[in-house]
Amino acid sequence: MCGIIGYVGPQDAQQVIIDGLRRMEYRGYDSAGIAVVAGGRLSTAKKAGKLTNLEAVLASAPLPASNQGIGHTRWATHGAPTDVNAHPHVSNDGRVALVHNGIIENFAELRAELEAEGTTFVSETDTEVAAHLLARELRSVPLLEAMCALANRLRGAFTLVAVDAQDPEHVVAARRNSPLVVGVGNGENFLASDVLAFIAHTRDVIELGQDEAVLISRDEITVVNFDGTPAHTRRYHVDWDTSAAEKGGFDWFMRKEIFEQPQAIADTLLGRYNNRGELVLDEMRSISQEDLRRVNKIVIVACGTAYYAGMVAKYAIEHWTRVPCEVEVASEFRYRDPIIDPLTLCVTISQSGETADTLMAIRHARVQGAKVIAICNTNGATIPRESDAVIYTHAGPEIGVASTKGFLTQVAACYLLGLYLAQVRGMKYADEIRAVTDELGRTPQMIQQLLDNAQQVYDLARDLSSINDFIFLGRHVGYPVALEGALKLKEIAYQHAEGFAAGELKHGPIAIIEPGMPVFVIVPPQGRDQLHDKVVSNIQEVRARGARTIVLVEEDDADVEAYSNVIIRLPRVSTLLQPLVAAVPLQLFACELATLLGHDVDQPRNLAKSVTVE
Ligand code: F6R
Repeated sequence: MCGIIGYVGPQDAQQVIIDGLRRMEYRGYDSAGIAVVAGGRLSTAKKAGKLTNLEAVLASAPLPASNQGIGHTRWATHGAPTDVNAHPHVSNDGRVALVHNGIIENFAELRAELEAEGTTFVSETDTEVAAHLLARELRSVPLLEAMCALANRLRGAFTLVAVDAQDPEHVVAARRNSPLVVGVGNGENFLASDVLAFIAHTRDVIELGQDEAVLISRDEITVVNFDGTPAHTRRYHVDWDTSAAEKGGFDWFMRKEIFEQPQAIADTLLGRYNNRGELVLDEMRSISQEDLRRVNKIVIVACGTAYYAGMVAKYAIEHWTRVPCEVEVASEFRYRDPIIDPLTLCVTISQSGETADTLMAIRHARVQGAKVIAICNTNGATIPRESDAVIYTHAGPEIGVASTKGFLTQVAACYLLGLYLAQVRGMKYADEIRAVTDELGRTPQMIQQLLDNAQQVYDLARDLSSINDFIFLGRHVGYPVALEGALKLKEIAYQHAEGFAAGELKHGPIAIIEPGMPVFVIVPPQGRDQLHDKVVSNIQEVRARGARTIVLVEEDDADVEAYSNVIIRLPRVSTLLQPLVAAVPLQLFACELATLLGHDVDQPRNLAKSVTVE
């Protein structure tokens, strides 16, 4: 959602900015723009649609050479995705160009105030008020001070980056509830929504805190709080390079990321338990073991795919810790006045670490006194920064908008957390913990086995490419996997797909089964209570109504053969860990079907990678 970049240094600003915007395309956007400063003047270009549209404009009317500028990809909130609403926005005096990610909640009153003073507005955006206000402040104070004064007038969520035509040396920025990082170069500096924008130039990063503003020049970086006092910054080094952000021979980032999952899971597990199977989560040290022992309720909050990872986690955490665990969609959480207190442990799951709904939910939990543990893939993002402890998933950058390795590594990290809590609380499952860590260690090979067999799933996608309705069924941890399978198909193949708890089928959804309708069923491993047999009965129920059954079942299970049109064999794994394998064929299926239907798999329509507005 909205990608922002600012640059000052010896290179051609236009090139650096366009390259940076290209690397942030995955975030989702519907227009793009750039502004550079040259000879005391601003030059801007902006265009609705993909970055190629902007590049065509720049090719026919090049901007002057410059070493300082800002760029933006916009995901429309206020005002349609048109050329005029695209960023940057320029003040009436032509002095300020500004880009913005977020929502300025009080823009209407600010616009009225500015209009009363004679300011003319050209766009329908909330952002334009910020450009005009910054220009007004600049008449009396220097750039960084002016940015702080502007930020203090705004309510809502914002990352703002701006240049002043009369200042050939600096780019200024501010952030509240929206992401911004500083790339520290050698004789050049960068500002961006995420490190991918400047990873080709530097891997040294400063993360900006809440309500902080920053001024960069070629050699200096000044970070202050909105009241002007110096801010404490944290600098870190990103340990992956540009190749992680390239497709490496795959047609889509999503497919590449699906195939990276064996490594991603191995990286999530790496160093997190010793050879006795004991969990070693150093990152949990900031929450005392005493506090963890006193916890009497766990609440997991997350959105979308991460929420489904949370649903899997509930089964595992309750089983291993015997502590009641709720899972809730983050956007609903704080609005229902949830019962939280200092004995509640809030676990939040977010690949990006920037999802606004999730961020607001954890803030609410912390205000009520709960400790918050984040499971996150993005070093230095807002959610881990605002949590008491963080378990990073170490999946590497996830660029495909539809989450795949993000999901699997979130699930793995949730298992680690559940086992760790069980260990700390001295539950009776020491042997089981050892068995689970052993089995977890084997899951990368199991996933690889499924990937080696991808062709079967691709053939299935071809066979079903003319179908528009799909059903996914699962029970226990298979239920969230069914929901995830359906979500993947909706997101990238734009097909109607629904996931149900298989036992709920007879309470209504079975009415929609029609002859020939594909129904994917995730069958639990044999021998666990009656769960397996119940799901086999569910397969028979839909099959009796003419459904085409695609059954995901462990390798030596013969019970389903009579009722399956297609059998996808899963490696043998215990029930709780089955999501780590069962999700993989569903990801491959969605990716292949979307490809066959001619869709842009990595940037599906209407979607943004990190949803930084509520
Ligand atoms: C689905 C997907 C989304 C995200 C959701 C939360 O493929 O990617 O449903 O899972 O928007 O995002 P994060 O994990 O970044 O908080």
